[in-house]
Amino acid sequence: MPTPDRTLRAVNLPADWSPESWRNRTAMQLPQYPDARALEEALAELRTLPPLVTSWEILSLKQQLADAQEGKRFLLQGGDCAETFDGCRSDVISNRLKVLLQMSLVLVHGLRKPVVRVGRFAGQYAKPRSADSETIGEVTLPSYRGDMVNAPDFTPESRTPDPRRMIKAHARSAMTMNFVRALIDGGFADLHHPEYWNLSWVGHSPLADEYRRMVTAIGDAVRFMETLSGSEVHNLNRVDFYTSHEALLLPYEESLTRQVPRHWGWFNLSTHYPWIGMRTAQVDGAHAEYFRGIRNPIALKVGPSVTPDQLLRTIDLLNPEDEPGRLTFIHRMGATGIAEKLPPLLDAVRRDGRRVLWVCDPMHGNTESTSNGYKTRRFRNIRSELEQAFELHAAAGTRLGGAHLELTGEDVTECLGGARELTESDLERAYKSTVDPRLNYEQALEIAMLIVRKQAQIAAPA
Ligand code: PEP
Ligand code: CO
Repeated sequence: MPTPDRTLRAVNLPADWSPESWRNRTAMQLPQYPDARALEEALAELRTLPPLVTSWEILSLKQQLADAQEGKRFLLQGGDCAETFDGCRSDVISNRLKVLLQMSLVLVHGLRKPVVRVGRFAGQYAKPRSADSETIGEVTLPSYRGDMVNAPDFTPESRTPDPRRMIKAHARSAMTMNFVRALIDGGFADLHHPEYWNLSWVGHSPLADEYRRMVTAIGDAVRFMETLSGSEVHNLNRVDFYTSHEALLLPYEESLTRQVPRHWGWFNLSTHYPWIGMRTAQVDGAHAEYFRGIRNPIALKVGPSVTPDQLLRTIDLLNPEDEPGRLTFIHRMGATGIAEKLPPLLDAVRRDGRRVLWVCDPMHGNTESTSNGYKTRRFRNIRSELEQAFELHAAAGTRLGGAHLELTGEDVTECLGGARELTESDLERAYKSTVDPRLNYEQALEIAMLIVRKQAQIAAPA
């Protein structure tokens, strides 16, 4: 068993913080539960349920993120915009895992560095919304806020926030986590058998040849090393996989915030790597207050309206001791805004000598509606924002250390463009998301290949 982290002083714990101190601040985006007693009962039950992750895993992820800050690793964070209770199925979970594993294989091979693999899953059930309510005709009902809060159908029963849904979300997260752990322990990610990772429709993809060539090259390299050493190369059958979600629903997060026997301080044990969404990132808000006291590595979405001064104050609050691996900024500016909005933020943080991991989310600043009423994203805008991010970091003397993506292993048609050049009329064919449009398998793999090409270009300009 690893040794406890006695070297870190408990003194670092903020004295005026507790898991519930966020309750004294203004909390945005929380649902109104009509039945206070039912809410209290659900939270009391959650407080007794076992955690989903351990403090040891959380601290080892923090170390990996510290490495990523120094350019020794690259972070791949991806998954659904919102998990659904119905989507807690073996095919959905294993296909999503396969895409992430394939992408990470492309990245490890192309970037020549280890990848930190983080899923947006096992807890990604609560969503921020632009309006508290929705009106259709004469009827106004609360907005759908994710399966952890209510259901999407436009009826009063479905839309009324139900605290028992938090218990169900915890259970579904545990089932997802259990299946992911079992798949990985069972050799699902074994490099000796990358063919296990193939999705059935890979064969038809225009990218299939490039991917297969790479898999063959890796297989050859593994066999070569095994022949040379006369024994099997171990550790190729295991990978680390971590979980993350937007820690939006603070009552839920609070009830899974615990102390553990061998590490000081408080851990959010519902996920390894929680993040604060753009709509709840106010420095004096309830979410920032909650996040400041937990020991997990944490991330914050940074949108186009954030000023350099606000960003520095956020660092002061969330990482006052400049701890390695602690703080990630996920910028999501949009392809048309990034060139203007990002450089002042990079300069301010670099000049101040502050340690953060910079990650690009090229999804959330590029959402639009089509003429036939679909919420979509154009692949070329996603690609453009990512490529610009690499260039802007290089120009500023900072480092882009990861990508944050919304993707699925299902053969959906939600984002336009990509190798198969999906058009607006294709969206009708397989649009399944209840919230944001996701990259399908092929588009996700294309993004991984593009990251490799762009990184090589930045490292060796023509
Ligand atoms: C999300 O990640 O699904 C999301 C809502 O992002 P943001 O907070 O950046 O808008
Ligand atoms: Co989203």
